[in-house]
Amino acid sequence: MEKSARMYDSTSCVLVDRMDIGRAVKKVGEMITEDYQDKEPVLVCILKGASVFFSDLIREIDLPLVVDFIACSSYGEGTESSGEIQIRKDLETDVAGRDVLIVEDIMDTGYTLDVIHRMLEERGASSVRIVTLLDKPARRKVDLKADYFCFTIPDEFVVGYGLDYGEKYRNLPDICVLKPEVYRKA
Ligand code: IMP
Ligand code: MG
Repeated sequence: MEKSARMYDSTSCVLVDRMDIGRAVKKVGEMITEDYQDKEPVLVCILKGASVFFSDLIREIDLPLVVDFIACSSYGEGTESSGEIQIRKDLETDVAGRDVLIVEDIMDTGYTLDVIHRMLEERGASSVRIVTLLDKPARRKVDLKADYFCFTIPDEFVVGYGLDYGEKYRNLPDICVLKPEVYRKA
């Protein structure tokens, strides 16, 4: 498929293309369907980055699930995590006694998922598991592992398929490496 020039000009390469993303999302959806037979899990989407992955993933899960959304911030417009996570929009669902799957776009330092994971356990969830589209283990700061992931990636700043830089590039259909000059000059 022809790439739309303007947005792709800021990227140095396609790291994962849409076909591979589709296949990996389907596989993770099937694994969750298998692992949660006879359960009605709550799938929690971490806004905004996980929204594209989330909407594809839930359609690959053949279970009577519930969806909810949470928004937090740590990055601002930069590429480095501050480690200070703020909840900007909380869940509407009472997760006490529920099986929860947190769905994230990328696990980088792990601060975000660590905070949300602990928060949902404290609210009395029966189980809390982590699903991430991308895992960037090189920069991990906390001892936390994803239960399900689609791809492990090197220490590059990536955009597309929901991931942003300064709120842009989320609508790129592929996962691409952002050219360092784009964020260095900012
Ligand atoms: P963590 O708390 O450091 O694990 O960061 C998780 C959040 O940082 C993700 O939800 C993303 O919004 C953002 N992030 C981390 N790495 C990247 C990247 O390579 N591209 C875009 N966003 C990223
Ligand atoms: Mg982000």
